[in-house]
Amino acid sequence: MGILDGKGAVVTGGARGIGRGHCLHLADNGASVVVNDIDGDEAQKVVDEISEKGGKAVVNTDDISSRSGAQGLVGQCVDAFGGIHIVVNNAGNVRDRSFLKMSDEEFDSVVAVHMRGTFLCAQEGALRMKEQNSGGSIVNTVSAAHFGNFGQTNYAGSKGAIASMTYTWALELARYGIRVNAISPSGSTRMSATYKGPDGKEVELPFIDPTRNGAFVAFLCSDEANWISGQIFGSGGDRVTMLEQPRYGTSMYKEGGWGVDDLLESFEKFLKDHLEPVGLMKRPYPFYDGIKPKGA
Ligand SMILES: NC(=O)c1ccc[n+]([C@@H]2O[C@H](COP(=O)([O-])OP(=O)(O)OC[C@H]3O[C@@H](n4cnc5c(N)ncnc54)[C@H](O)[C@@H]3O)[C@@H](O)[C@H]2O)c1
Repeated sequence: MGILDGKGAVVTGGARGIGRGHCLHLADNGASVVVNDIDGDEAQKVVDEISEKGGKAVVNTDDISSRSGAQGLVGQCVDAFGGIHIVVNNAGNVRDRSFLKMSDEEFDSVVAVHMRGTFLCAQEGALRMKEQNSGGSIVNTVSAAHFGNFGQTNYAGSKGAIASMTYTWALELARYGIRVNAISPSGSTRMSATYKGPDGKEVELPFIDPTRNGAFVAFLCSDEANWISGQIFGSGGDRVTMLEQPRYGTSMYKEGGWGVDDLLESFEKFLKDHLEPVGLMKRPYPFYDGIKPKGA
């Protein structure tokens, strides 16, 4: 008996890296898994690995950034396994370029896979779950890059949008018994090999087993976790971390509102020490000396 017995699951981008780990853990815990990836050969290897251990899995090669692809994926899960109870939005790509040099193609390509693909697969999955009256679990994938990361306007922006969609869908879908959470995973993968430091140079990162996010995803998708929704967790390695949600912090008030003269007098006094570190690395606030064009 597994905690996911009888559940049908789809994992986008499940052929390699972090998504492969999700597929293996979902299947180990009893789910029947559609392993989606545009790379069908790699996806087949994951299906073979699951089948050899006695689990149930099939390959799907739809491009999840299109409506027809998302429909095909969800439809295949229902046809093959009699229903869909789990959608893991994991597929991803990167096209890093600094903001002022980023092309339309680089922007659109990343937004299409991450933001649009997540929207489409979650919507198609949730419509079926509502029709089945079965409830279900959607797990999206963000990244600490959404705090801001040099060279990743397209990726950071998409991941921030996915975080906001996660909160929104958790509110909208609870009435159908559908839970929506996200993970910010970690692992050494084809994608993590492209990471660069703030100086634009490639960084040597220690090896982290990318499959170690999968057990947490399996837990989140089980009925035992039916009280968890609208949350984002850091996963992978040895940790599970709560991601703090954006909220209003320190404030200053003035009856009748703030004029420019009031702000000139009070902003520095009350809020200067509360400016937040910027970006993924969370270095101390770097701009106290003023931000000016070169030579000014
Ligand atoms: N590796 C990390 O440390 C890390 C950190 C934060 C977030 N993430 C996120 O985790 C997820 C998985 O990343 P990964 O590191 O395993 O990368 P990866 O490149 O190893 O795997 C991504 C998979 O998605 C597939 N894919 C891409 N476009 C697709 C499409 N249109 N339709 C279907 N499949 C598609 C690729 O073929 C690939 O197999 C991504 O969403 C990524 O942003 C990864």
